[in-house]
Amino acid sequence: MNNLFPEHATIVEVGPRDGLQNESNQVPTQDKIHFINALKASGIQEMEITSFVSPKWVPQMKDAAEITASCDDNTRNLVLAPNRKGVERVKETNVSSIALFAGVSNSFNEKNSNKKTDRLLEELLPLVQELKAENYFVRACISTAFYCPYEGRVDVVDTTEVCRKFVEAGVDELSVADTIGMATPEESYTLFQHLTSEFPRTLITAHFHDTRGMALANIYACLQAGISRFDTSAGGLGGCPFARGATGNVATESVVYMLERMGISTGIDLKRLMEAIDVIEPHLSRRISTPVRSLYLKENATQS
Ligand code: HMG
Ligand code: MG
Repeated sequence: MNNLFPEHATIVEVGPRDGLQNESNQVPTQDKIHFINALKASGIQEMEITSFVSPKWVPQMKDAAEITASCDDNTRNLVLAPNRKGVERVKETNVSSIALFAGVSNSFNEKNSNKKTDRLLEELLPLVQELKAENYFVRACISTAFYCPYEGRVDVVDTTEVCRKFVEAGVDELSVADTIGMATPEESYTLFQHLTSEFPRTLITAHFHDTRGMALANIYACLQAGISRFDTSAGGLGGCPFARGATGNVATESVVYMLERMGISTGIDLKRLMEAIDVIEPHLSRRISTPVRSLYLKENATQS
């Protein structure tokens, strides 16, 4: 293997959370659980399974407590929380991994969390310390790390400073997001290379939305920058309802296909992943048509 790249990469599946939060159909809880279990059966080891956000803001996630109650914890089940109230709800469950989220830009945070950045960090950073003292695995999801839908280009320095605050508070992981899918491979390389050198002891994960079809190229650039953890969503579902122009996450099947073909193991079985997509697709308002998925359906149709 080319020693430029890792031998193994970790896929953090975000379909049941980022994928479904933007879905207009209310997916029945039992089908979400079936989807999560099918994803685990494909080899997914880390997954955002739901979020404890306001059900008024995101009705799709109103069944968060039922989802967590039905999921065994033989893999890392991450749940999102936007504030102290969300964290308190998480503490009533059996979940031991939690993701807090904040954008770099004020306008995004106002739309997504109803607070400006400073005020949001004032609430979240003490929560990180509190959760670490209680032995939770804590991830910080950093939105608008490259571009904000309302303010435009975001400076690497500003993104790094928000990340630094979470690292100093003690997070285990930073998931750094191109919320509206505008980053280029060069920008991805620059930011992630910088973050890995600034925060060498923190897990750093890249979270790309594929709005402009650049996510795979960005992941390739991230591999070159030393990143080996990627948030992806089965079927390319996803998007943040509070970020204008945010469409689906990069598809898990596309990333798994590319990495495995490059000799980078993911531990994920593509056929089982397709079976997980079979579970969720009938409940969605749109067809899934990523290239890997379409080819798989075509090949299966020819064989039968
Ligand atoms: P707010 O209205 O300012 O909240 O919303 P509040 O504190 O004023 O409370 C208002 C009401 O909401 C109260 O209820 C609270 O109890 C309730 P009422 O008295 O009116 O009956 N409430 C809650 N209920 C349940 N769970 C909670 C909660 N908090 C308050 N946690 C709030 C502030 C943060 C709650 C709201 O803005 C919210 O829920 N936002 C979530 C937005 C969201 O889910 N966005 C998507 C996830 S982030 C994302 O997708 C980006 C990411 O993928 C990376 C990327 O791609 O960029 C991670
Ligand atoms: Mg996202």
